[in-house]
Amino acid sequence: MNIILVSAECAPWSKTGGLGDVAGSLPKALARRGHRVMIVVPHYGNYAEAQDIGVRKRYKVAGQDMEVTYFHAYIDGVDFVFIDSPIFRNLEKNIYGGNRVDILRRMVLFCKAAVEVPWYVPCGGICYGDGNLVFIANDWHTALLPVYLKAYYRDHGLMNYTRSVLVIHNIAHQGRGPLEDFNNVDLPGNYIDLFKFHDPVGGEHFNIFAAGLKTADRIVTVSHGYAWELKTSEGGWGLHGIINENDWKFRGIVNGVDTKDWNPQFDVHLKSDGYTNYTLETLQTGKPQCKAALQKELGLPVREDVPIISFIGRLDHQKGIDLIAEAIPWMMDQDVQLVMLGTGRPDLEQMLTQFECQHNNKIRGWVGFSVKMAHRITAGADILLMPSRFEPCGLNQLYAMNYGTIPVVHAVGGLRDTVKPFNPFEESGLGWTFDSAEANRLIHALGNCLWTYREYKKSWEGLQQRGMSQDLSWDNAAQQYEEVLVAAKYQW
Ligand code: GLC
Repeated sequence: MNIILVSAECAPWSKTGGLGDVAGSLPKALARRGHRVMIVVPHYGNYAEAQDIGVRKRYKVAGQDMEVTYFHAYIDGVDFVFIDSPIFRNLEKNIYGGNRVDILRRMVLFCKAAVEVPWYVPCGGICYGDGNLVFIANDWHTALLPVYLKAYYRDHGLMNYTRSVLVIHNIAHQGRGPLEDFNNVDLPGNYIDLFKFHDPVGGEHFNIFAAGLKTADRIVTVSHGYAWELKTSEGGWGLHGIINENDWKFRGIVNGVDTKDWNPQFDVHLKSDGYTNYTLETLQTGKPQCKAALQKELGLPVREDVPIISFIGRLDHQKGIDLIAEAIPWMMDQDVQLVMLGTGRPDLEQMLTQFECQHNNKIRGWVGFSVKMAHRITAGADILLMPSRFEPCGLNQLYAMNYGTIPVVHAVGGLRDTVKPFNPFEESGLGWTFDSAEANRLIHALGNCLWTYREYKKSWEGLQQRGMSQDLSWDNAAQQYEEVLVAAKYQW
């Protein structure tokens, strides 16, 4: 099959969160299964690997003429196509920056250009064309693509063999705006009904995700737990009605992890500064060495017996960092170290720094986004906290388990799917879960976890071994995506 994944971000070139990681790895996994795969992303910076292929096209965005050029790179069996225009340039640190209309116009231009890539961008001298072609769009940013495919082509008897799949990574962002936003998307007047949406929060408004979900041939979300939540009024953020109506084309597939990048055996960030690579066999010496290196690097007392609790993620309400803040007085009464890494809301960033000042021999709050530190903390810590209020899939808990770091998570979405609770009677399970986003529940779960860490070394090692022995690679997920793509093509 010819597969074109379209995303607003793609690691390592551009990333604000898990979407970037997925866009960086899923195409490669699909290519390994024998498909011809392209990923299309905006060209935010200057990427040394990508060449201008000399194709120029002009698109109208809200009446304004805009030129785009295309950059191409062939890496690990995948065609990477970067769409270049002055409106994307220098945004790599601020992909979703600007006001609502700025972002909307960027996404309009991006989707218009992306839907035509199969003809205009010859990869290895050959275009993808429309035969046997499926687009995979991701989140509201590219939810216009299925709509353009229909309005510009399929309604006119063109691209009849091309299908589209829309993946929901996070329903909280929907591309909402006033109805006048319709004037920016360049569609025939009758298309407004697809976008017009009414709910108690927004009243009558313009909603891009709604239009994409109705139009795509198939819908995927990134875990089974989240698929279930999206159908409820609490989890669907207004769109549960549309998801329920389209249940026949909707499916959950848990994300994988890039096992080349996130693998303690080969991790490049563990090759210096006292860290070391390790495997399941060398876990009991390798991980303590990483722990000591982390304590040293962060200026914490170097002690093997003290558990390091970690948090890595965006600092916002969704990630539940405020629950950790509430639990800190309790934690500081224990003999533990706490390491937190993230950026986000300025008040929460300040809070992290303050905690570090108040408890200088126990807490480190690293404000910033550092891939290197994310890897080193994952290797050196004993425990990872993920108290997210909602979490469509979550990748950090998967990375943690690959590194023998035990997750303590709020049992929602993908966290519930992937972290089976520890059962001391059967010596089964992978971590601790709590079932309501409240600090006292977090404390209860973390308390049990710490108790096991201190008193039951064998159980702890069992948890680590089970976590590290899982196959969390993308291969499994890619096979399920393939089923969806086949269904999109042949069953409709
Ligand atoms: C979003 C979700 C996260 C998921 C990621 C990749 O960032 O919040 O849970 O893991 O997308 O699908």
